[in-house]
Amino acid sequence: MAKVIYGKVIAEGIKNSVKKDMQRSKTSRIPGLATVLVGDDSASKIYIKKKNEASKEVGFHFQKILLPQEATQRELLGAIEELNKNEKINGILIQLPLPLHIDEKKTICSVDPSKDVDGFHPLNMGNTLMGNEHLVPCTPLAVLKIIEHEKIDLKGKNVVIVSHSYHIGKPLGALVLNRNGSVIIVHEYTPNIQALTKEADILISATGVPRLIKKEFVRRNSIIIDVGIVKQRDGSICGDVDFNQVKNKAKAITPVPGGVGPVTVACLMLNTYKIFKKEVFGQDFVI
Ligand code: GUN
Repeated sequence: MAKVIYGKVIAEGIKNSVKKDMQRSKTSRIPGLATVLVGDDSASKIYIKKKNEASKEVGFHFQKILLPQEATQRELLGAIEELNKNEKINGILIQLPLPLHIDEKKTICSVDPSKDVDGFHPLNMGNTLMGNEHLVPCTPLAVLKIIEHEKIDLKGKNVVIVSHSYHIGKPLGALVLNRNGSVIIVHEYTPNIQALTKEADILISATGVPRLIKKEFVRRNSIIIDVGIVKQRDGSICGDVDFNQVKNKAKAITPVPGGVGPVTVACLMLNTYKIFKKEVFGQDFVI
């Protein structure tokens, strides 16, 4: 049976580092995080609630902006512009997915890159690609924190990522390459995914396709990181990996829920605090 890697422990470690540093740095200013949700997608609402709870826990100011489903691009850009100017707000997160009539790229580019907690702005993404990792997207960062927590050195490892998205697969590939791992990125148009995933020392899947990864996809004694999270019709939460099949073949595996999710939220706190520390003290916060 594989070791189950529980994200809560890792998330607590990250949040505690932030809290400790905040207590040490004597300032009356409080880090501020704002989220913007367009529409009322139920999963997005749950994610925002978790971000609010984590902000409270670490002692951040949290502002939630809700725009109706039919809000225009102009209205959304107006709300972002207000947050860009708001001195109480250090981090701005535009909850994705956005309604189809909204241009996601235009929206991402309108966030002040120095407040871009998601690390999605091309300036931050370019820095990540370059190896200047300052504001790194939270989910890829969470995967990296899990790998570091397991004391795995990425140098020379075969890492297979099932996702070529701008938000997860591409930046995660860059983080692995920055640490001299070898990367194979596969996606829905890759023929015979299984032939490639079987080569992985570390397999990371982020498709949102329930139980896509069966035991035949997995190399014995590999590390499996499951980024997928889907609510099924019966209300249960399920990941990309068929946990029951894979647990007897892998060396270690993250569960869903309780794996990558809590670490991602903790990384959002970390990025918000990084921005705050840079702005208020001119210092980099590294943990
Ligand atoms: N929706 C699901 N995950 C994320 C995320 O990490 N950032 C944003 N902005 N939206 C999301």
